[in-house]
Amino acid sequence: MTTDTDGVAASRPERPVRLAVRQSGVDAELAELARAEPGSLGHPGETLVALPPLLHICAYLEDELIGHVGLVLSAVRHGIETDDVAGLGHLLVSSRHRGHGIGGILVHAAIALAGDWDVRGILGFCEPDLVPFYERFGFTPAGPGVTVGQPGGRTAPLPASLTSVWRPLGPPALAVLGSFELLGLPF
Ligand SMILES: CC(C)(COP(=O)(O)OP(=O)(O)OC[C@H]1O[C@@H](n2cnc3c(N)ncnc32)[C@H](O)[C@@H]1OP(=O)(O)O)[C@@H](O)C(=O)NCCC(=O)NCCS
Repeated sequence: MTTDTDGVAASRPERPVRLAVRQSGVDAELAELARAEPGSLGHPGETLVALPPLLHICAYLEDELIGHVGLVLSAVRHGIETDDVAGLGHLLVSSRHRGHGIGGILVHAAIALAGDWDVRGILGFCEPDLVPFYERFGFTPAGPGVTVGQPGGRTAPLPASLTSVWRPLGPPALAVLGSFELLGLPF
C-alpha cells in the first residue's frame, strides 16, 4: 500500500488508487458506477426516500471512479436518549476491482473521517449477508426494531431485507445500539 500527498492509499502499487474526499460534483460519476452494477447497491434508497451523502469518499484509478462510500450526519433516539451519529451509505466498488482491499480502504477512511465528528458511533444499513464484511471493521449488528424517518414527519420500519450495523466512536462511545429510531431519512 502506498500513500501520496492527498493522503491517498493504493491497494496495488503498480496501479495506484487515489482517494479523494468530495462534498459535491460526484453524482454523475456515482450514477455511472451504480449503472454498471445493476441491483448491487443494497441500501434503503431502493424502497424508501433516502439522504444523499454529505461527504463522498471516492476511489479513483487514474480518472475513473471505481469505488465510493458516503457519509451523512444523523441522529438516533434509543430509549430515552438521543445521540448524534455518522451514517455510512452508498458503498460500492466496481465488480472489476473487488477483492483488492478497496472496499476496506473506503470503510476505514469513512471511520477515520467520522472520528473527527462529535458523534457516538457510525451506523450503516446493509443486506444481512454483508454483516461479516462490516464486522471486519469493528461493526456489530444493531436493532432489532429499527424505524427511520420519511418525508412529512412520517416514520417507516427498516425494510426486512436490510439490517443495521453499528461501530462505536467517541468518546463517549456508545458500545451497543439496540432498538432505535433514526431521526431523519436513511442513507
Ligand atoms: C462489499 C464491497 C464494497 C466490498 O468491496 P471490496 O473492494 O471487494 O472489499 P475488500 O477487498 O476491501 O474486502 C475486505 C475484506 O472483506 C472481505 N469481504 C468482501 N466482501 C465480503 C462479503 N460480502 N462478506 C464477507 N466478507 C467480505 C474480503 O474477503 C476481504 O477480506 P481480507 O481482508 O481477509 O482479504 C463490494 O463487494 C461491493 O461493492 N459490493 C456490491 C455493493 C454492496 O453490497 N455495497 C454495500 C451496500 S451496504
